[in-house]
Amino acid sequence: MNAPIVIDSVAALRAQVRDWRQAGLKVAMVPTMGALHDGHISLVRIALEQAERCLVSIFVNPTQFAPTEDLDKYPRQLARDLDQLRGAGAHLAFTPGVSEMYPSGFASKISVGGPSRGLETDFRPSFFDGVATVVAKLFLQAAPDCAVFGEKDYQQLCVVRQLCRDLDLPVEIIGAPTVRDTHGLAMSSRNAYLGEAELDIARKLNLVLRRTAAALSAGADEATATEDAAKALVSAGFQKVDYVAARASVTLGPWQRGHDGRLLAATWLGTTRLIDNVEIPSA
Ligand code: PAF
Repeated sequence: MNAPIVIDSVAALRAQVRDWRQAGLKVAMVPTMGALHDGHISLVRIALEQAERCLVSIFVNPTQFAPTEDLDKYPRQLARDLDQLRGAGAHLAFTPGVSEMYPSGFASKISVGGPSRGLETDFRPSFFDGVATVVAKLFLQAAPDCAVFGEKDYQQLCVVRQLCRDLDLPVEIIGAPTVRDTHGLAMSSRNAYLGEAELDIARKLNLVLRRTAAALSAGADEATATEDAAKALVSAGFQKVDYVAARASVTLGPWQRGHDGRLLAATWLGTTRLIDNVEIPSA
């Protein structure tokens, strides 16, 4: 496979995408913060099924990190990321610096309502403003036909869909299934923070969620089932559970039995915060 073209300026990105469009090629985008793993590579593969050209942005977006969060220690490994993108057949890596995305004097933000309410926002109040602002900028800069986001960040996927609908951004959003290791642990760049003993505990998250989702669809009381799940996570070794919650799968409003649902959770292992979610089968 050829190495991807690496571009770090918005002007050069626009020129390249314009050339592709003039040649009649469809363009798919995969927005990332780098530290690529098999989950990201699966998004690239899906992008390549949808379009003739795949562009991957790699930008650790400071506006979605709170001052207390892991912006400084977030893994950065561009050379390795580019190698993986070459293996996957991506055509372009957009790697802007902070000053390209947020030049001095930058003073705007996009705030999405609806699905951004609750869950992550209860614990990371400005997270989705940062995500929505950077995703809107990336879409306006790259003007892709479609973009692929992982279901692992399920609330983010719903927020991005809402953003595109509300702002008439002409980008088709494709949700991709979560990639898991053989024990069910969802791939995440933050797994790199975990030692072997912590990984053993982390792998219990998906088990507890699947068990709880099955109990809910079999008729278990929602409050009891989600409380029991939080207790089971603490017993398994998680230090803290931010939430375990059942929600309607599109709006993320209250879940109603018999309708499509999603069970979402955020937990802490030491200083590492892990999120995951599973479908609540409707029968
Ligand atoms: O999911 C991520 O990696 C980020 O939130 C995103 C969508 C690339 C925006 O910075």
